[in-house]
Amino acid sequence: MTLPEGTPETNGPVAAPEEILWEPVVAEPSPVSPTFDEVTRRRTKEIIARYPQSRSALLPLLHLVQSVEGYVSQDGIRYCAEALELTTAEVSAVATFYTMYKRTPCGEHLVSVCTNTLCAALGGDDIYAALQARLGTDGRPLGHEETAGEPGTPGSITLEHAECLAACDLAPVIQVNYEYFDNQTVESAEALVDALRAGERPAPTRGAPLTDFTTVELELAGIFPNLEVSVEGPSAAAETLRGAQLAAERGWVAPPMPDEPPAMPDLPEKR
Ligand code: FES
Repeated sequence: MTLPEGTPETNGPVAAPEEILWEPVVAEPSPVSPTFDEVTRRRTKEIIARYPQSRSALLPLLHLVQSVEGYVSQDGIRYCAEALELTTAEVSAVATFYTMYKRTPCGEHLVSVCTNTLCAALGGDDIYAALQARLGTDGRPLGHEETAGEPGTPGSITLEHAECLAACDLAPVIQVNYEYFDNQTVESAEALVDALRAGERPAPTRGAPLTDFTTVELELAGIFPNLEVSVEGPSAAAETLRGAQLAAERGWVAPPMPDEPPAMPDLPEKR
């Protein structure tokens, strides 16, 4: 493997798939940022080769772009478009639809505070307001998707409020780089961001050991330089398993699946 001079091997090594051909095909390729080096291009080929239709690789490719840039820039949009033979408008439509794709540079860590109904009622709104104040400057609270510190530098934090992080039984919850910190309070949340700002990486309640936003983005792209560590850590909580446990204790089972699907009711005539 030959990297451009001075280019670090980022996020660990990746095996080169053999015999995978990829040539960006557009009439006039846009100049693509040199950020997308040989390692990224090889990973791009690897991801595209996983799908029967190349355009299906768009979501992981956008994560790959974020793993390099810390967000999805216009260059990142063009890079995906050229790799997948899509228009930049098609890629932009996807990148701006999903909230996991960030259009401004992110901090070393992304802190997501759930402010959906259950978390909000149990303190999520208070936690979000407290973190906004704690991470803000000169009396101005940090806004949604704004960053405390220089994006990408150690200790920098991008804060966002999120809608239901699928852990309502452990509300109120926070995620750091999508790993869970359950049953939070204002005090525990403030201690968490203080530790992140100081360069520490507290252990999540559930999930893999903390890394940083760009490393997790590489994993979301489907590339795991260190798979054993990535899957380390608890993934289920006692609260989540309680229902299944009660059912097992009481001998409750799901009714058997019918051989034939149940008859559908008649539909009213369409006018
Ligand atoms: S409401 Fe917060 S995890 Fe569902």
